[in-house]
Amino acid sequence: MSRNVAKRKRIYLKEKPAEKIGAEHFELREEDVPEPKVGEVLVKGLYISLDAAMRAWMQGRTYRSEVDAGVVMPGLLLGEVIESRDPSLPEGALVEGDMGWQDYAVVPARSLMRRKAMKPLTHLLSAYGITGRTAYFGMMDIGRPKPGDVVLVSAAAGAVGSLAAQMARMAGATVVGIAGSDKKCAYLTETLKLDAAVSHRDKRFFAALQEACPNGIDLYFDNVGGEVLEAALFLMNERGRVVCCGAVSQYDAAPGPTPGPRGIPGLLVVKRLEMRGFIVMDYAARLAEADGRVASWIAEKKLAVPEDIVEGIEKTPQALIGLLHGENIGKRIVKI
Ligand SMILES: NC(=O)c1ccc[n+]([C@@H]2O[C@H](COP(=O)([O-])OP(=O)(O)OC[C@H]3O[C@@H](n4cnc5c(N)ncnc54)[C@H](OP(=O)(O)O)[C@@H]3O)[C@@H](O)[C@H]2O)c1
Repeated sequence: MSRNVAKRKRIYLKEKPAEKIGAEHFELREEDVPEPKVGEVLVKGLYISLDAAMRAWMQGRTYRSEVDAGVVMPGLLLGEVIESRDPSLPEGALVEGDMGWQDYAVVPARSLMRRKAMKPLTHLLSAYGITGRTAYFGMMDIGRPKPGDVVLVSAAAGAVGSLAAQMARMAGATVVGIAGSDKKCAYLTETLKLDAAVSHRDKRFFAALQEACPNGIDLYFDNVGGEVLEAALFLMNERGRVVCCGAVSQYDAAPGPTPGPRGIPGLLVVKRLEMRGFIVMDYAARLAEADGRVASWIAEKKLAVPEDIVEGIEKTPQALIGLLHGENIGKRIVKI
């Protein structure tokens, strides 16, 4: 046996939040590491992907089954096989899978996907993971920005938004980003070279957005829903398109109907708007296309991939809570 590990750290969802999520809803437990059975492997976790939608998984059924209290918090984990009882995954293989928040996982080999190592390894969870693929298909396949379009992206300093916004800029559009602080807005215009940025925490948010989009909006890439979506709908041009990627403003709340946006019937009908939702796995057969385009943009230095690495598995709950409060610039990942 090549391992030298007897105990592992696992973070459980202790209790489902009734309203806002807090550290008290999680519990870190130290447990024995079981022996893998035939067909299983022992994986040493390297990086945990944090995704805003993890909070929505606790609210009810989404694109995956609801997460209940009493389980190891699920989530994508990138790790290395350190013991194998399945010939398809030898020791040393780099793998990813929904292994959850734990530093050592014993799982069926067939539940994992093998990945090729790259530098930096974290790009497997950002540029070449759900984040990059969501940005690519949402913006390039559904949004289809054209030169001259005005494109608005919300949560534009976040993981998906920062990549989607840059893709629209590469397509020749005028791109306006929405983020939650002046610091993030400066990052969007100065580092990512967006044409303008507006803070949704600005008391004058709607007026500032209107000033940033004097000719209206042709395409809105919506990551947040709620009031920001409502504001964007009012500024959409006729026959504009709205890509519904997510609704993070509504995740950290009690389950059930969510407020707003108001005015949808009048706005959608009169402006002949098109709104389309999608889930990245709808594109499972085309992931190589996204990875290939992203790789060439990175190689040509046209696409920056911001990452926000938090160190230490113990910090994972706080890192998710912080993500929902907008602490991150780019893809938040926990380094175990
Ligand atoms: N459709 C799909 O297949 C798919 C796949 C992956 C992700 N997504 C969606 O993509 C979106 C972004 O997810 P991510 O994992 O990349 O997270 P992220 O953008 O890195 O982080 C979430 C960001 O949302 C912003 N935010 C939080 N509350 C807000 C509010 N009330 N109003 C406006 N902004 C708020 C925060 O930034 P600020 O400082 O700017 O507030 C925060 O940084 C989510 O809606 C997620 O569900 C969809």
